[in-house]
Amino acid sequence: MTFQNRTAIVTGSASGIGRATALRLAGDGFAVALLDLDRTGLSRTRSLIEEEKGTAHEVPVDLRRPEDVVAAVDAAVSGLGSPAVLVNVAGVGVAANVLETTDRDWDQVLGVNLTGPFLVTRAVLPHMISGGAGVIVNIASVGGQVGLARRAAYCASKAGLVGLTRAVAVDHAKDGVRCVAVCPGTVETEWIDKILADAPDPAAARAAMAARQLDARLGTPQEVAALVAFVAGAQGRFINGAALTIDGGMTAA
Ligand SMILES: NC(=O)c1ccc[n+]([C@@H]2O[C@H](COP(=O)([O-])OP(=O)(O)OC[C@H]3O[C@@H](n4cnc5c(N)ncnc54)[C@H](O)[C@@H]3O)[C@@H](O)[C@H]2O)c1
Repeated sequence: MTFQNRTAIVTGSASGIGRATALRLAGDGFAVALLDLDRTGLSRTRSLIEEEKGTAHEVPVDLRRPEDVVAAVDAAVSGLGSPAVLVNVAGVGVAANVLETTDRDWDQVLGVNLTGPFLVTRAVLPHMISGGAGVIVNIASVGGQVGLARRAAYCASKAGLVGLTRAVAVDHAKDGVRCVAVCPGTVETEWIDKILADAPDPAAARAAMAARQLDARLGTPQEVAALVAFVAGAQGRFINGAALTIDGGMTAA
């Protein structure tokens, strides 16, 4: 990677894809600000990074709250310096079609998955613009590209995030800032563990999830993190405003 300033901010880094991304960027030499609600998970990610001699700074925050996001980005910048890379990973889902979706669920899913990345991007962009460089990677989903059954708010939030990605790319290319969406299929994380644990037959539910991919397995958080690192790095510099699918062929059929 070619940034002079090697600081990254990763949201959702207490778990799953966010933790794997924070670990990967720390391994690539970035000092990583870890933003998440879950303090226990944040401490665990920081310990894992420090065990590998990396640098991390924990910033507990609820990403739905505008003032708190501004304070969290300020804390990240004071702790580690101006960010060269932002990865918006934090997300939530609700299993419901439109008729089943409550107002509360809609606000929660849109609040974390779309308003959150908007708020963090708005707080981080001035730092990137003043430094003349930056990369923002938004973790969307195949649910932002195709319809998924009983995921109405989730699909809407992720399609919105892909739209936000393109808009930021168009507006800020002139400032040296790129913005790219990464759209995973089903990835083996704590989120999926919880869904499987709640299924009447977890083994059958897991086999059905794996069968949706052409290579009949779930993705790993490390595979998604590797794509994020590539996009954020020098070799990814011609990628801008794109929505990159990483789904084991799930949406090819
Ligand atoms: N796992 C998958 O199969 C999959 C597939 C496609 C896309 N994604 C996306 O990847 C991202 C990460 O998913 P994951 O599977 O690692 O999930 P995860 O549940 O393991 O991690 C999500 C993290 O987001 C944090 N978070 C939730 N609400 C927050 C809030 N209000 N403020 C701050 N942090 C908050 C959680 O505390 C958690 O640490 C999500 O955006 C998800 O939509 C996941």
